[in-house]
Amino acid sequence: MRSKFFNRFNFILLISILVSAFSFTQAAGQSDYPPGYYDIIAVALVIIVMIAFLGLIYFESRKDRELKQGESLWDKVKYMLTRSTPIEKEADILLEHEYDGIRELDNRIPPWFNGLFYFTILFGIYYLLNYHVFHTGKLQYEEYEEEMKLAAMQKAELIESGAMINEETVTMLTDAASLSAGKEIFKKNCVACHLDDGGGLVGPNLTDEYWIHGGGIKNVFKTIKYGVPAKGMIRWETQLSPRQIQEVASYVLSLQGTTPANPKAPEGEKWEEPAADNSGSSSM
Ligand code: HEC
Repeated sequence: MRSKFFNRFNFILLISILVSAFSFTQAAGQSDYPPGYYDIIAVALVIIVMIAFLGLIYFESRKDRELKQGESLWDKVKYMLTRSTPIEKEADILLEHEYDGIRELDNRIPPWFNGLFYFTILFGIYYLLNYHVFHTGKLQYEEYEEEMKLAAMQKAELIESGAMINEETVTMLTDAASLSAGKEIFKKNCVACHLDDGGGLVGPNLTDEYWIHGGGIKNVFKTIKYGVPAKGMIRWETQLSPRQIQEVASYVLSLQGTTPANPKAPEGEKWEEPAADNSGSSSM
């Protein structure tokens, strides 16, 4: 019964099903685009090569095979892969020569090895065609360039969304739309302590040239972002987006030189923009 099950036809059928299933999972793994002409050819090639490989091993192993009674399936598979000569028959393949008592057996090349060898040849052809002739596969540097392009696009998107704005990169906004957006944020969140006109109440006067934590867009952005919790200035980064902090900071700086109704006396140091770079990142 068992050897019936293990006949040629069933075996090849089983292997084909396994290989097809494998190829399909591979193809499905890249299903973010519809499989193209070359994908189908590649899958078909893989199936053919695998079947050829396994068929070769199987048929080679059938040659001069003596079936034994009570053989286990494992024994059959082992013989199929190695075609080794049983120990009782080793005398038949013993070679004539002898060196220091060491003698050699003329074993056959195992089918698994031959199959692998043929497979590497076929794979080499497939590789050459895929990467160098039809260019259906991407070489390393092409993959690299594609990734870099994607990363650049993602970066541009991030900059666009404002997520990249921080105290190092922030710039002063001067367009009317941004300033009026900043004014709205200021009215909603800041007037309780800094007054409508920035003259200062609990918080300091924001219209003069004197700054406790440094003037300039970068320092002002930083003070608003991280706050001065010990002195009652809230850490705004949890409530405002980087873009919103940039807008309100720009609005605050646009108040420079205006005259509030009840200005608080100057606090801190007089701020001068550093000459070399306009960043004003020093908050000493
Ligand atoms: C609860 C009161 C309060 C609110 C609300 C508040 N601030 Fe302040 N703010 C302060 C205090 C107090 C200080 C002074 C901190 C110190 O003495 O170090 C300050 C300091 C500042 C400074 C630094 C001034 C300097 O001289 O360096 C800026 C800029 C500022 N606030 C902007 C804002 C903005 C913009 C908002 C709204 C998003 C805001 N503040 C809301 C209380 C407040």
